[in-house]
Amino acid sequence: PPTPLVDQFQRRITYLRLSVTDRCDLRCGYCMPERMTFLPRKDVLSLEEMHDLALGFIDRGIRKIRLTGGEPLVRRDMIELVRAIGRKIAPGEERALDELTLTTNGTHLADHAEDLFAAGVRRINVSLDTLDRDTFARITRRDSLPQVLEGLAAAKAAGLRVKLNTVALKGINEAEIADIIAWAHGEGHDATLIEVMPLGDVGEDRFDHYLPLTAVRDVLDRRWTLTATGHRTGGPARYWDIAETGGRLGLITPLTGNFCEGCNRIRVTATGRLYACLGGDEQVDLRAALRSADPEAELQAALDTAMRIKPERHHFAIDRPGGAPALSRHMSMTGG
Ligand code: GTP
Ligand code: 5AD
Ligand code: SF4
Repeated sequence: PPTPLVDQFQRRITYLRLSVTDRCDLRCGYCMPERMTFLPRKDVLSLEEMHDLALGFIDRGIRKIRLTGGEPLVRRDMIELVRAIGRKIAPGEERALDELTLTTNGTHLADHAEDLFAAGVRRINVSLDTLDRDTFARITRRDSLPQVLEGLAAAKAAGLRVKLNTVALKGINEAEIADIIAWAHGEGHDATLIEVMPLGDVGEDRFDHYLPLTAVRDVLDRRWTLTATGHRTGGPARYWDIAETGGRLGLITPLTGNFCEGCNRIRVTATGRLYACLGGDEQVDLRAALRSADPEAELQAALDTAMRIKPERHHFAIDRPGGAPALSRHMSMTGG
């Protein structure tokens, strides 16, 4: 039988983040420049290839697949892929998925929420950094807040559980963070705050807006009663319950609280490059494996290589103005 994926630090890899496209209809300032260069369309894997990859990973013990981007819902045939991979959802069963999910900016969610649920998706993560239309346009360079709010309403109506992702940005959404959390909890959503990470050149200095979540925690602690919970989703967030809102708050702290020790993840780009770590360049070419004479064997060999090269941790830092990004690669390529 195929052996499980375990790296050289004895971390069991059960979570695949699969980027279905690096393209996006928004242009969040911390993520990409206005004039972004995308991967050549001809290099992007077909649906069939992505499906084959997913099956190969599931054979090696992957229990959770998160479809990411860029914005996954801008890929036209995306729902077909969700349906195809969705057939492998069978929680607890051998060589099957406990969960298939996606991370989306929400702009196209209203059109797809019901189809996602019908395909077996039960929980999605939606990026939302502000509830103010002008601030939204400032952060994303697009005036799309109304569509995102419609998407969130549609997701709720379709029965999808939602986790909101909010990147904490000094001087931009800083004063609004507690309101966003309270709003999310009022809607029945989980809320998660994220520290901005230095990935890819975006034409601005991330230091200017970097807000450590240790500082945000201090502010929230003065307003609310936060109690640590053991809640886990298999992702990097650590969760707290907020007594006053009755909701759950996740904190993702790559800079102020490294969580690499418990890493269970690998990521694959839309062109089939497996990156062993969000914060490193270590990679293997799964597309070459898929297009070789013996795809199954080559794919399995590539996964073994990935386990040998996965680094112990990332070395992100945003500690002074003018610092270069840790990597030239943008997060949109590897899907966060
Ligand atoms: P769930 O726990 O399943 O809800 O998902 P998640 O929080 O892992 O996924 P999501 O796509 O919502 O990502 C939230 C944030 O976590 C993004 O900013 C990701 O870049 C970040 N993230 C996810 N995995 C890693 C990781 O391995 N390392 C680092 N540094 N950040 C990660
Ligand atoms: N640092 C932190 N989070 C980022 N995201 C995109 N780029 C960055 C970055 N440089 C977030 C998005 C989305 C999640 C998948 O990653 O806002 O919520
Ligand atoms: Fe794992 Fe790399 Fe993410 Fe750290 S940055 S948690 S090592 S994938």
